[in-house]
Amino acid sequence: MPHTIRAEPSGHRFEATSDESLLEAAQRQGLILPYGCRNGACGTCKGKVISGRVAYPGEAPGGIEPSESEDGFALFCQARARSDLTVEVSEIQEAGELRPQRLAVRVQALERLAHDVMRLSLQLPHDRRLQFLAGQYIEIITREGQRRAFSLANAPHDDGALELHVRYVAGGDFTEHVFDGMREGEIMQIEGPHGSFTLREESSNPIVLVAGGTGFAPVKGLLEHAFHLGIQRPLHLYWGVRAKRDLYLAALPEVWRAAHPNFCFTPVLSELRAEDSWPGRRGLVHDVVATDHPDTSSLDLYAAGPPVMVRAVRDVVVAHGLPVARFYSDPFEWGAPKEK
Ligand code: FES
Repeated sequence: MPHTIRAEPSGHRFEATSDESLLEAAQRQGLILPYGCRNGACGTCKGKVISGRVAYPGEAPGGIEPSESEDGFALFCQARARSDLTVEVSEIQEAGELRPQRLAVRVQALERLAHDVMRLSLQLPHDRRLQFLAGQYIEIITREGQRRAFSLANAPHDDGALELHVRYVAGGDFTEHVFDGMREGEIMQIEGPHGSFTLREESSNPIVLVAGGTGFAPVKGLLEHAFHLGIQRPLHLYWGVRAKRDLYLAALPEVWRAAHPNFCFTPVLSELRAEDSWPGRRGLVHDVVATDHPDTSSLDLYAAGPPVMVRAVRDVVVAHGLPVARFYSDPFEWGAPKEK
């Protein structure tokens, strides 16, 4: 039977079974607690157990002193509830509270998803995790010291590796390297997380997400996070690309649609190729969104992709009634140069 955990000073409550860590349980229910390594070594997740009992699955982890345990502290990435608890812990309320870290990562896998998109999986050091919010981005620091920004395509609960979708940019040194010279095992420096394109979980409005090209990456992170939290609000994804071959993970939204009745998917093609047989929507994605939503006043709208697309979406949905404060965007233009 799950135990009820009350977090102080916020007063938030969540439930934890006896075989999951307090950190996992909190994360599953949308509370963001600080963590670093997730394996009991760094001490970042330390909190105080004010009442109730916790236990570790094995020996007491190394990231906490015996005297701290005697004083009631515990490492929440390891501790399991053995009764209802009241704990004292600092919660992360917004993206700005996550301090960017600089880490060395290893290229774990390279997977060509389309003619011009590569999925890059980056493995963190075995004793580290990068704490981030769904939809944020990292910077890759090249050997020349230049920075290239890429959105994280995975959700925070799935942080064993970092997933990036890298689009080929002719003349872009880094992306040319990714497509032509990069090998598994290569070590690179990253810094992150950055950005505030994150899910506003406190809202109850229907959500429309609009992705252009590899703007699908942060939107994938947001959606996988929303599914993990069990969010029941309507979620409608529009993905605008030129041709069918640009829908580089087209099967994935279909999997989501089969698993989540509150999720809809509308791919939109703007420049069909001769070989494309396409019974679906055509045109520019912002026009399709406007046609489907003549009144946007009750929506939360998230848009990610090329700046020109994001601006076109914003203009049309605001003209159709969306308060501008509920337009959340990730235009690929956080300073130069960007290659995604
Ligand atoms: S996150 Fe490092 S000890 Fe818990």
